[in-house]
Amino acid sequence: MRLILAPMEGLADQDMRDVLTRLGGIDLCVAEFVRVTHHLITERVLLRTVPELANGGCTRAGVPVRVQLLGSDPVCLAENAAHIAGLGAPGIDLNFGCPAPMVNRHGGGAVLLQFPEIIHTIVAATRRAVPQHIPVTAKMRLGLKDTALTLDCARAIEAGGADEITVHARTKVDGYRPPAHWEWLARIREVVKLPLVANGEVWTPQDWENIRKVSGCSDVMIGRGAIVRPDLALRIKTGDAAMPWPALLPWVADYYQRLRARVEPKHAPGRLKQWLGMLRSAYPEADALHQTLRTERDPVAVEKLLLGH
Ligand SMILES: Cc1cc2nc3c(=O)[nH]c(=O)nc-3n(C[C@H](O)[C@H](O)[C@H](O)COP(=O)(O)O)c2cc1C
Repeated sequence: MRLILAPMEGLADQDMRDVLTRLGGIDLCVAEFVRVTHHLITERVLLRTVPELANGGCTRAGVPVRVQLLGSDPVCLAENAAHIAGLGAPGIDLNFGCPAPMVNRHGGGAVLLQFPEIIHTIVAATRRAVPQHIPVTAKMRLGLKDTALTLDCARAIEAGGADEITVHARTKVDGYRPPAHWEWLARIREVVKLPLVANGEVWTPQDWENIRKVSGCSDVMIGRGAIVRPDLALRIKTGDAAMPWPALLPWVADYYQRLRARVEPKHAPGRLKQWLGMLRSAYPEADALHQTLRTERDPVAVEKLLLGH
């Protein structure tokens, strides 16, 4: 039974992965997508998104981070995957679910769900290019507008030789709105034999139990739920009670300090505000800090506020 932190561009960045994996309970991370176009991604660009590659492909807590690629050209994807595997990535994940219009216009992400044969070609080319001991996995949504091709896409991923598939149980049109259609995960399990990771709408330990029951999957990927409740994975593993706000606050401060050391100082308060905005739904105490950050944009003042709180 594994708990996997979902790739979330702009949300589960390297600093968030660091904090969440040190908090505990997460077995594996998938980094936010890296766009593959017509050239080899430079090491510099790659390390910006997945700096864990300079640490043996793991977070400081020792949790492996797979690199996710997004694109539509099988040859370019395969070449980049081989290159990245050579840099020590513990796994390569292929994105067949991104709904962003910009990405879709270039033929990547969820639009590929209309073309199972292209998905098959991409997976097969990538699997061939990457050494066998490094997993090549794929992440898909149920479809673009409907579920007409869901099973075909899952079959294409399996036939292409992927080692594992994660399914976000919604179509692109569903966006991120509840519900997630967990029953579809069980249907997919009937037609493919490769390990299936269940994903979508797991916010509490009870949701985790329910998604496993409905889908029959043992492994679960958690996205926004891990941002809103940073101890969610730990609680699932230990059965412990939820961490109170005073115990969580030093982790939030730690995240902010890491952010400040990495991003342009003026951007750090905004990123923190985003997290506090999400934390409010589990921790009403986060609201006061969130309100303050509406007007306070001085990074040093924000740090004092966090540490003195
Ligand atoms: C802000 C944001 C960014 C995301 N970025 C990615 C991404 O880079 N790659 C990907 O495969 N999925 C991405 N996703 C989708 C998540 O990995 C996950 O499938 C989705 O949030 C459903 O899980 P949840 O209901 O537990 O959040 C993103 C989701 C969000 C909310």
